[in-house]
Amino acid sequence: MQQLIEQLKAQIAGQIAEAQDTTELSAVHGRFLGKKGEISVLMQGLGKLSKEERPAAGQLINELRDWATEQLGIKESSLAQWELTRRYKQEAIDVTLPGTGREMGGSHPINLVRAELCRVFAGLGFEVVESPEVELVNYCFTALNVPPNHPSRDRQDTFYISEDVALRPHTSPGQIRTMENQKPPIKVVVPGRVFRRDDDASHSPMFHQIEGLVVDKGINLCDLLGLLTTLAKTLFEPDVDVRFRPSYFPFTEPSVEVDVSCFVCSGKGCGLCKGTGWIEILGAGVVNRKVLAGCGIDPDVYSGMAFGAGLERMAMLKYGIGNIQILYDNDLRMIGQF
Ligand code: DAH
Repeated sequence: MQQLIEQLKAQIAGQIAEAQDTTELSAVHGRFLGKKGEISVLMQGLGKLSKEERPAAGQLINELRDWATEQLGIKESSLAQWELTRRYKQEAIDVTLPGTGREMGGSHPINLVRAELCRVFAGLGFEVVESPEVELVNYCFTALNVPPNHPSRDRQDTFYISEDVALRPHTSPGQIRTMENQKPPIKVVVPGRVFRRDDDASHSPMFHQIEGLVVDKGINLCDLLGLLTTLAKTLFEPDVDVRFRPSYFPFTEPSVEVDVSCFVCSGKGCGLCKGTGWIEILGAGVVNRKVLAGCGIDPDVYSGMAFGAGLERMAMLKYGIGNIQILYDNDLRMIGQF
């Protein structure tokens, strides 16, 4: 028995020494101290010994069990400590490393101009409304007094979806929709995307406009000129020069086009303004009586003024962007500047 105990002791000591981690160590524990482990089996074998031999053998086995339990315990705590240290090292976070944040862009210049215009007009008592991008041909042209043979109706200029439906080529249909739904006094602006079959250095098939409409008693050309001058000076510089040129639109009479002094040359004449010193920003006029009447508004009682402005033009002027394409490239180096 003594010999057997010594052998087991040596085996246990060897296996404890070899155990690399707590999993291996608990296997050693099972092999010797588990229910069917070698020490337990020895215990169970005691019954087969004679009465005389039993006490001494029992004591030896008990001592072996206590010793093994102690040794396993010592190794267990040193392995556990080591494993914890290793885990801390693996999971350590270097808080001084630079983060993996996302790159920030900025608001797009067109959205900035749109937001600023809406803010200015809201301050002047205008309501900001939306109008469909896919629009009835009737609202795009007919209700705006555009004659059947007008070139803007051409399939080479307008994107038709069917005979009666098109992508709106301007925001002016928003005027008709507003007048059909509201009674005067009316004061609205309609910002949004518009579409034309145009694509070159200074035109894009999709661009943005903002439409304005005021209908009330006694609205006249002077109101329009005053409003647009205020607008230009608020949006650009207070000392910007504003020029009104007589023009023609089917939906207004009289009609004007509005220019502001060129931001590059301050009116001296340069490549951007094609030597004129002026850059056109919008079309406007006194609402044609036929358009009011078509919307059920009595033109003998009410009159109106309207305008339509290109947001790309305004953004380019305001931020000194020389090429319209830059607005559509979505290059973060450009957008990040705003
Ligand atoms: N719809 C015109 C265009 O796209 C711009 C315009 C001119 C709008 C005169 C108006 C207006 O409301 O009165 O060229």
